[in-house]
Amino acid sequence: MTDSSVFLRSVKCFIICGLLTLSSTLSLTTNDKRPNTRTKPSQPNIVFVLADDYGWNDVGYHGSEIKTPTLDRLAADGVKLDNYYVQPICSPTRSQLLSGRYQIHTGLQHGIIWAAQPNGLPLELPTIADKLREVGYATHAVGKWHLGFYKEAYTPLHRGFDSYFGYLTGGEDYLSHKRCTDVGHEMVCGLDLRDGEKPDWNKTGVYSTHLFTSRAEKIITDHAKQSPDKPLFLYLPYQAVHSPLQVPQRYLDQYKNIKDHDRRIYAGMVSCMDEGVQNITKTLERFDMWKNTVFIFSTDNGGQILSGGNNWPLRGWKGSLWEGGMRGVGFVNSPLLKNKGQVRRGLMHVSDWFPTLVHLAGGNTTGLKLDGHDIWRAISEGGPSPRKELLHNIDPMYQQAGERLFNNTFDSRVRAAVRVNNWKLITGDPGNSRWVPPPHVSADTDDTLRFVPKKNIWLFDVATDPWERHDLSDKRPDIVKSLLERLVFYNLTAVPVRYPPMDPNCDPSKHGGVWSPWQD
Ligand SMILES: *[C@@H]1O[C@H](CO)[C@@H](O)[C@H](O)[C@H]1NC(C)=O
Ligand SMILES: *[C@@H]1O[C@H](CO)[C@@H](O)[C@H](O)[C@H]1NC(C)=O
Ligand SMILES: *[C@@H]1O[C@H](CO)[C@@H](O)[C@H](O)[C@H]1NC(C)=O
Repeated sequence: MTDSSVFLRSVKCFIICGLLTLSSTLSLTTNDKRPNTRTKPSQPNIVFVLADDYGWNDVGYHGSEIKTPTLDRLAADGVKLDNYYVQPICSPTRSQLLSGRYQIHTGLQHGIIWAAQPNGLPLELPTIADKLREVGYATHAVGKWHLGFYKEAYTPLHRGFDSYFGYLTGGEDYLSHKRCTDVGHEMVCGLDLRDGEKPDWNKTGVYSTHLFTSRAEKIITDHAKQSPDKPLFLYLPYQAVHSPLQVPQRYLDQYKNIKDHDRRIYAGMVSCMDEGVQNITKTLERFDMWKNTVFIFSTDNGGQILSGGNNWPLRGWKGSLWEGGMRGVGFVNSPLLKNKGQVRRGLMHVSDWFPTLVHLAGGNTTGLKLDGHDIWRAISEGGPSPRKELLHNIDPMYQQAGERLFNNTFDSRVRAAVRVNNWKLITGDPGNSRWVPPPHVSADTDDTLRFVPKKNIWLFDVATDPWERHDLSDKRPDIVKSLLERLVFYNLTAVPVRYPPMDPNCDPSKHGGVWSPWQD
């Protein structure tokens, strides 16, 4: 780029950014009709902690060797969600959490949003933060975004959040906060950490779990002091415990017993996150906010076996349609729960948080098309879950597998999975399929079951066989056919996939060395 084009760009930015600043100032002072206090006395604070790549077998209360005393305690005297599902990878889970919509309805059916991809959660969809804001909530996001940033309109401050501190891409270094990515024959690198819209160059060497925890604590503290009458929504998608494997030494000392190098570092990362959750809940208690808080903890997908995570005894891991990829660690704790210390076995899904939390906040979902169900009663009181069915996904872009098995119904070569009551049907290529015990356990992993050339249909009774060891697709063709029909039904409502090619203009070196929106 020539000097004059840099100059032109900055002149242009000066004008446009100036106008934007002016108009947003105006809209805040003249058009902001948002209530300043609770619009309903019962509006609870909502704190949502989303862990990244945190596996089924990585939490103490599932029998893990990893120590998570805070999560164990909060889950034990709250409610554990034992039949709770997320999506197999990052952006898909986050898109469903924030929009209440299945991926077939957002166009994000395929893969994640790559750093270099001009893609994002469609702007016409209101986010959960938009809806909570409508009914008077202060809304803050701290941590990983991963829902698109190629245009400013896709970034958190334009998606319903009053404040944002974190990184916009899918992963990076925990200490330098830098991210590199391949844009086709070329690596591009840059800082990915911002406070609001401004890059934050000043946190090099500060481990992100500490950074995000202390920002969350500051938000709670400021909120308690400055707007105690407003309800708070704090969305905290930690970087932990995604790769790269990095953790301060002091979290490793308790894991001398774990011999496997990756598992040991991962365990330390988990324990640091557990401490972060403890700090946040203590801060809520200190400011007397806990008594009116609904605290939710969830993973975004199954553990990544290649980076220390584990989902044993479930089958498969991050990225697959097996239970190990999607059955999520999740629990709720709140003084507002009617029946505590219990395990919920009803079917629940990450898309359910949108209507559940918006209704709990006294908000309104009338006129919105949603794929989630309001599961609050099932969580709080323990009745049946309103959800009987769950479309895990239909991905028409994934490499097809095998031969088409049936005519006049769903094409079994296409990657998809659907759940109806206890029955789960998988078609196409489900992805990584092994049972992998944690490194210190030598168990019969029954690997022979996975090599069936060109197989592309499986049926499981997940209630009696959560390990997916007994494929019943031959024995129950009636159920296979009815679940294929459900896939046909859902597929008719699918929108086209949004998956644009990588755009080299994302290169941070063109934007002051920072990952930033690169299109107007
Ligand atoms: C960087 O952080 C230090 C310590 O928190 C602070 O004193 C300094 O002003 C910050 N610098 C910038 C440029 O923000
Ligand atoms: C939690 O708080 C303690 C005490 O202030 C601090 O030493 C620790 O680093 C904090 N942990 C995290 C993960 O923020
Ligand atoms: C809910 O929202 C719809 C659409 O915005 C509106 O027509 C309706 O009056 C609202 N209902 C309540 C109870 O606020």
